[in-house]
Amino acid sequence: MSIRRLPSELVNRIAAGEVVERPASALKELVENALDAGSGTIRIRLVAGGLELLEVADDGCGMPSDEMRLALERHATSKLQDDGLDRITSFGFRGEALPSIASVSRMTLDSRVRGSDGWRIVVDHGKQGGEGPTALPPGTCVRVERLFEKVPARRKFLRSSRAEYAACLDAVKRLAMARSDVSFALEHDGRRIFSLQPTAPPLRVAELLTAELDRNGIGIECERNGLGLTGVVSLPTFNRGMADQQYLFVNARPVKDRLLVGALRGAYRDLIPRDRHPIAALFLSVPLDEVDVNVHPAKTEVRFRDPSAVRGLIVGGLRAALDEASQRSATREQPAAPVLWTTSEDYQPSQSVERITEEPIATMASVVAEARALFEHAPAARAEPAVQDVPSYPLGVARGQVAATYIVAEAEDGLVIVDQHAAHERLVLERMRAAREGGTIACQPLLMPEVIELDEPDCDRIEAATAELAGLGLEVERFGTNAILVRATPAALGKTDVSGLLSDLASELAELGSAFSLQEKLNHVSATIACHGSVRAGRVLSVAEMNALLREMEATPRSGQCNHGRPTWVKLGHSEIEKLFGRR
Ligand SMILES: Nc1ncnc2c1ncn2[C@@H]1O[C@H](COP(=O)(O)OP(=O)(O)OP(=O)(O)O)[C@@H](O)[C@H]1O
Ligand SMILES: [Mg+2]
Repeated sequence: MSIRRLPSELVNRIAAGEVVERPASALKELVENALDAGSGTIRIRLVAGGLELLEVADDGCGMPSDEMRLALERHATSKLQDDGLDRITSFGFRGEALPSIASVSRMTLDSRVRGSDGWRIVVDHGKQGGEGPTALPPGTCVRVERLFEKVPARRKFLRSSRAEYAACLDAVKRLAMARSDVSFALEHDGRRIFSLQPTAPPLRVAELLTAELDRNGIGIECERNGLGLTGVVSLPTFNRGMADQQYLFVNARPVKDRLLVGALRGAYRDLIPRDRHPIAALFLSVPLDEVDVNVHPAKTEVRFRDPSAVRGLIVGGLRAALDEASQRSATREQPAAPVLWTTSEDYQPSQSVERITEEPIATMASVVAEARALFEHAPAARAEPAVQDVPSYPLGVARGQVAATYIVAEAEDGLVIVDQHAAHERLVLERMRAAREGGTIACQPLLMPEVIELDEPDCDRIEAATAELAGLGLEVERFGTNAILVRATPAALGKTDVSGLLSDLASELAELGSAFSLQEKLNHVSATIACHGSVRAGRVLSVAEMNALLREMEATPRSGQCNHGRPTWVKLGHSEIEKLFGRR
């Protein structure tokens, strides 16, 4: 076989394979070009999710006709005026989006520079389709039709026009958040979807993200070593089943970078269940020479010169804000789940955002059912007689225990119900964290060391973490190829299922990989250990024990929610009790 140089048409189609994966990626390129052209207003029209038509009209600088021809050639760009790639401030720089899209569609490119006449060039699947004068306001209008019609392999992978529309909408939202100073109008199948006026970044984000974030979001603003982070994230209790509402930007470029997504996850790690995801819009600013944007053909990933500094800023900044918010909410009347006690008429679940309130509400229903069962049959719950004056503890004085699982306490302003397992798990975690920070972790030697069998990679991971685990009070030692010997466990745990603990730790370590700092790993590992130590549901507690738990909760940061983001306690205010009995 002889080697041949490929014709440019084929080269463009090959590039299109990387750059134009679906209508939304073509749309993203066109809107980025409009932004790079300095536009103040961008109008987007889509038909059938972009499969039939994608049109982007802008009022930017426009192109003279000879430049339009050049723009349709591969590797022709106005955005790299010198030969460096290290100070890129435009969205585009590769000079391949237009020829790539034009090779897999019918493209009509209209453009006009202010003060001269408009010109049109048509390209039909990579071939010149004619050109001539045309009328349009100053700016550029690109129309893309019959996308992928001649690329059946690509067409097969496209989804319904609904799904393609959803992807287009997402792409436009990301760019509209990145540039709140520009007007955007979007129309789909003749329907106006939105029309956004220039505004400040937080207001633009608020327009495009769920309005609920007003009440359930935390503003972020922090800076460290020349790196800056601003934006908004959701409270841990306000989360979603999908990670689809996470908008991340690096120097105003929308990215889907794994490092950033991982850092966001890391910040919520023991505050939210593993299969739930926070909502976030985060804007990272990094000196231009510390980030490489030439990593991915679609420019959605970047590479940082100092990834751990970026990770540290995100995890540290978010963590501090989340901690502060959790203390604030724990001292309010209604902690982690603010809608818990409202009646069903008041509470309209938002369509766009799922909440995890089903769970606490179900828990409440079962509390009531269990309480009723107890009272109907043998009244076995222990109770303290009510006394006249209730000392003013925020979580009140223990009055009894229901189903050996819930503590019922009387506070000055209402009735408090505590999930003793969830609360205890949180306390163990916080105790371990405090002890670790103070360097005073105590361990409990086992009378007989236990041999735990695990596969070799799991053993390797545990072995590699031996020193870190010893710092947490867990003393382990490699024991042949497939086993670990456990000599001592953290004293905070009490008696525990050592084998379950070790296999959970191994998978935790596997997931964390090497991207996490030692400090973060210790936090995650402590959470796993704490969960194993907190098997207190079903244990009958004495009144003194219950009160001790309540007082410890009051004194412990983040005790308003368990390690999985569920509330550990709820309060029913006097007025709500009165409402329940129809007194108000
Ligand atoms: N809407 C527009 N208004 C004015 N000029 C444009 C517009 N779209 C494209 N151009 C010009 O055409 C050139 C080629 O565009 P194209 O998108 O193919 O490449 P690029 O934006 O330079 O780089 P990339 O391939 O990374 O997007 C641009 O450099 C720009 O000069
Ligand atoms: Mg471009």
